[in-house]
Amino acid sequence: MRSILVTAGPTREKIDPVRFLSNYSTGKFGYEIAREAKRRGWRATLVSGPTYLEVPRGVRLVRVESAMDMKKAVMKELAGTDCLVMAAAVSDWRPKSFSKTKIKKRGGKRVLELAQNPDILSAAGRKKGAKVLVGFALETENLEKNAYRKLKEKNLDIIIANRLTRDACAFGDCPTDILMLDRFGNKSELRRRSKGRLAKIILDKVETFNI
Ligand code: CTP
Repeated sequence: MRSILVTAGPTREKIDPVRFLSNYSTGKFGYEIAREAKRRGWRATLVSGPTYLEVPRGVRLVRVESAMDMKKAVMKELAGTDCLVMAAAVSDWRPKSFSKTKIKKRGGKRVLELAQNPDILSAAGRKKGAKVLVGFALETENLEKNAYRKLKEKNLDIIIANRLTRDACAFGDCPTDILMLDRFGNKSELRRRSKGRLAKIILDKVETFNI
């Protein structure tokens, strides 16, 4: 049986017991990919940041909160997996320190010091535990150039690039434009497709890698 590990959703990086740093990801794309894999009879595991989505039936769920938690879960689950899809919007930074008590507004202006999070996909690429590695790229400019760079630098087989513009939808349940590149130099541009439809197209592509 084929197996797939999909990450989805945002990560949350805690500042204090009531605050965190995060992003607009809803998890929709990753959940659709896991759903489609399960529909094809694959063994599917979702490593998910906080979302409000229903877990597709038959998909194993590992819940995480921060990028560090996500990295730990991915590295643990990776062994023996045929395909890793990193659809999660991992926060590149976390607050350098966590305050156990609520930070009070007294004192006026504050500076939040950040530490860089590890790149999970690059770490997985170095390990090459999964046979097919699929990454995402979210860009506001130079979509194709940046996507190619990430494909090479992170040692990926496939990259799905999303353009973030005012009229295109990247987050949530809405028609989405993607540019899909593979390591052989093939390129396909898909416009205004549902994330469910795009999940099928992406897994068709994964299947061409003969896993
Ligand atoms: N990613 C990851 N770990 C991180 C950041 C990103 O595994 N700490 C993964 C994402 O899940 C995605 C891919 O790397 O599959 C690209 O993420 P993106 O945010 O577009 O790019 P970055 O590598 O963070 O680069 P930049 O911030 O320069 O755009």
